[in-house]
Amino acid sequence: MKLVKLSEGETEVFVPEHKKGPGPRGTDLPVFYNPAMEMNRDISISFLKAWDVNGKNLLDGMAASGIRGIRMANELYSGEVTLTDVSHESIKLMKKNAAINDVDVDIFNESIESHLLNNRCKYDYVDLDPFGTPVPFLPTVLRYTARNGVVGLSATDTSVLCGTYTKKCLRLYSARPENNWCRHENGLRILIGHVVREAARYDRAAVPLLSYYDGHHFRVYVKLEAGAKKADDALQKLGRYDFGEYDWEEGKKTGPLWTGQLFSKKILERMTSVGTMEEGSLEMWKKESSMPPFFYDNSIISKYLKLPPPPLDYIITELRERNNKSVKTHFSPTAFKTDAASSVVLDIFKSYSSAP
Ligand SMILES: C[S@@+](CC[C@H](N)C(=O)[O-])C[C@H]1O[C@@H](n2cnc3c(N)ncnc32)[C@H](O)[C@@H]1O
Repeated sequence: MKLVKLSEGETEVFVPEHKKGPGPRGTDLPVFYNPAMEMNRDISISFLKAWDVNGKNLLDGMAASGIRGIRMANELYSGEVTLTDVSHESIKLMKKNAAINDVDVDIFNESIESHLLNNRCKYDYVDLDPFGTPVPFLPTVLRYTARNGVVGLSATDTSVLCGTYTKKCLRLYSARPENNWCRHENGLRILIGHVVREAARYDRAAVPLLSYYDGHHFRVYVKLEAGAKKADDALQKLGRYDFGEYDWEEGKKTGPLWTGQLFSKKILERMTSVGTMEEGSLEMWKKESSMPPFFYDNSIISKYLKLPPPPLDYIITELRERNNKSVKTHFSPTAFKTDAASSVVLDIFKSYSSAP
């Protein structure tokens, strides 16, 4: 395997030679490596610093080149860091990468499922970063992460969760997606809803601390709080929505999905103070963290009303002047969230077009 050396954060690693440029890939390499996930890994480091991993045991359960787990060992002050992967080639490469960074990590050539079964509830943090869907691994991960531990998981099957393949979403997530302007938030909420239901089987409440969409994938960090009552309370926050032409109401069309908060404000504040990731995303997530589910899309409403779209900043200012909350959203550059009634939103579009 031809290797190239690169650095991410404060860590240097060898990875297989790969094509440069945007877009998801990595599966065609002898050991998986996707440069497009650098931001995902930077956010993991920032999140784990904010959560405070001092003395905690961390597992990178699908470690590939080891880049994520070795960054955890090199850039955080934690307890033990363990890496596991089913691929023999990956193990050879992650050992080499651990050596060049001089980090003391435990490396196992076994599946995340069997590793967790052999080390039940040992890990305070488990990172689950599969190709595609995390669904097959969730029962073991959600059951055998330590009490009050955290799971960080990725899902790259965005087309399933966002409604291109409705039947597959029903089979995998037991939920109905919706391929409309809110599909990315809807998909993220279906994923969280599934995690909440799966954790509840083991009398655990999965509480989202940080959940976001980033182009090719979803990423969710949940804290696992133990107790049947807490699990029941989390299940109460599942719901279904019925999308109309430009808005939505609780009904029976999509879901079940998570209707609660996507972020913990406390974690976002701490991520800002540890200062290891760019502030733009953090600021946007902070603003979104106090908003209700879903958003309006400027072009959908303009099309519906057959009126020109007002500038986004104009709409947000007008909504705030009428005593409503309104912010931009990381889910779409042409959209805004608000707690205003849809009639107020439509009025703003109408008054913009009739202004002299
Ligand atoms: C998407 S890659 C992980 C990428 C890595 N976390 C990173 O940040 O670069 C998925 C990895 O999971 C490994 N894998 C697949 N099934 C597994 C399982 N059941 N347990 C552990 N590793 C598995 C694959 O060999 C592959 O290296």
